[in-house]
Amino acid sequence: MTADLPDLPADFLFGTATASYQIEGAVKEDGRGPSIWDTYCRIPGRVARGETGDVACDHYHRYREDVALLRELGVDAYRFSVAWPRVVPGGDGPVNPEGLAFYDRLVDALLEAGIEPVVTLYHWDLPQALEDRGGWRVRPTAEHFAAYTRATADRLGDRVRRWITLNEPFCSSFVGHAVGRHAPGTREGTPALATAHHLLLAHGLAVRELRASAQAHGRPVEVGITLNLDRLVPASDSPADHAAVDRAETLHNRVWLDPLFNARYPVNEAETWGRLADGSYRVEGDLETISQPLDFLGVNFYRPVMLRDAPHQEADPALRTATDIGVEEVRFAEARHTTMDWPVVPSSFTDLLVDLHRRYPGLPPIYITENGSAEDDRVEADGRVHDSDRIDYIRDHLDAVAAAIRAGVDVRGHFVWSLMDNFEWAYGYERRFGLIRVDYDTLERVPKDSYHWFRDLIARHKARH
Ligand code: NOJ
Repeated sequence: MTADLPDLPADFLFGTATASYQIEGAVKEDGRGPSIWDTYCRIPGRVARGETGDVACDHYHRYREDVALLRELGVDAYRFSVAWPRVVPGGDGPVNPEGLAFYDRLVDALLEAGIEPVVTLYHWDLPQALEDRGGWRVRPTAEHFAAYTRATADRLGDRVRRWITLNEPFCSSFVGHAVGRHAPGTREGTPALATAHHLLLAHGLAVRELRASAQAHGRPVEVGITLNLDRLVPASDSPADHAAVDRAETLHNRVWLDPLFNARYPVNEAETWGRLADGSYRVEGDLETISQPLDFLGVNFYRPVMLRDAPHQEADPALRTATDIGVEEVRFAEARHTTMDWPVVPSSFTDLLVDLHRRYPGLPPIYITENGSAEDDRVEADGRVHDSDRIDYIRDHLDAVAAAIRAGVDVRGHFVWSLMDNFEWAYGYERRFGLIRVDYDTLERVPKDSYHWFRDLIARHKARH
């Protein structure tokens, strides 16, 4: 390892990532339909300061400027998401040509700049019309997702090779339907577990459509899914704390990994959820659809989580939500915490990847599809943002990836979250993850020190190989 230059393979892919609702704005333009986030942002008290994605970074109108900044940064790839409500405003039914045309222009601009587009099909903006019919709680939503996927792939698949079906289904299902901190913002039991299953099913159906569309185009395709896998550590060596972590492993990790890569449901569902996990939403053959081979696994990683055994929030098992599994988070006393109050422990990233590799031997190659930090950025007198904490965070986590690769894990690339400051969901605009600062009054983009540092790192990596 040379100072400041992580020891990564020559062809390692460097990128940055964003998501539609967090950056695009233009929520009523060119035929876009409402999404569950448009609705959720309008419920008083749900999003900090009542902020919304109505304007966000106005990327919908400024994408050329953003692509120019990406080109200047020198990344190999850019991960963005397509907004389902732009492409199919009603969730199912007619495709909106103007919605697809936006992504068509974006893909062309990226390719002209020599940047590979990596497309996420679902980054949480479900068309509201589908939520009104049960959303992810009901099976038809998975079928509508497959149809939307096909329309998008048929239009962009002559130029886009790498596709991600879902981003962090844990958040879509459990944060949305059990914690209630994301849209649609409910606190449910069995229906929340049904959403997890239908998201997996939607993924499987979409994989089929992506491969069929690529075949029609006569083009190679790479298909994956992005999971926010958690590095969970027990607060003590007590059997109770270990059992708590085991339940959380199922809630956070196994619920996705086991069906996707081992074609089975987690073995300890009953210990984790009791009768909530009644399986009523499963249909014979679903596991086969869900477990189709993938070309890569996307991993989003930010922090480890320490847990201990704790009483359930709700004493009556029949009334529990799907995330009420008798665990409690414990603070990492020694670690620095970011403005998300997330502990910074880069070695836990290596541990997660090595453990994953050991527990799921058949795993496809991994891309880190998100990793980055929200910091207390300030514009200094010289007009710049000296975000040395973010630089340290990204450098140390790239080193952690390099360590995992040396230990035998097949990691092919890393996408910094995020290219620019954006709408951080329930936290609104205050939490800033960008390599580029966005001034929300003027919408001006100002590259931070981390942007210049990252550009230099990529250039030196390429010069070295
Ligand atoms: C994961 C999500 O995919 C992304 O939308 C979010 O902004 C980042 N984590 C940071 O919380």
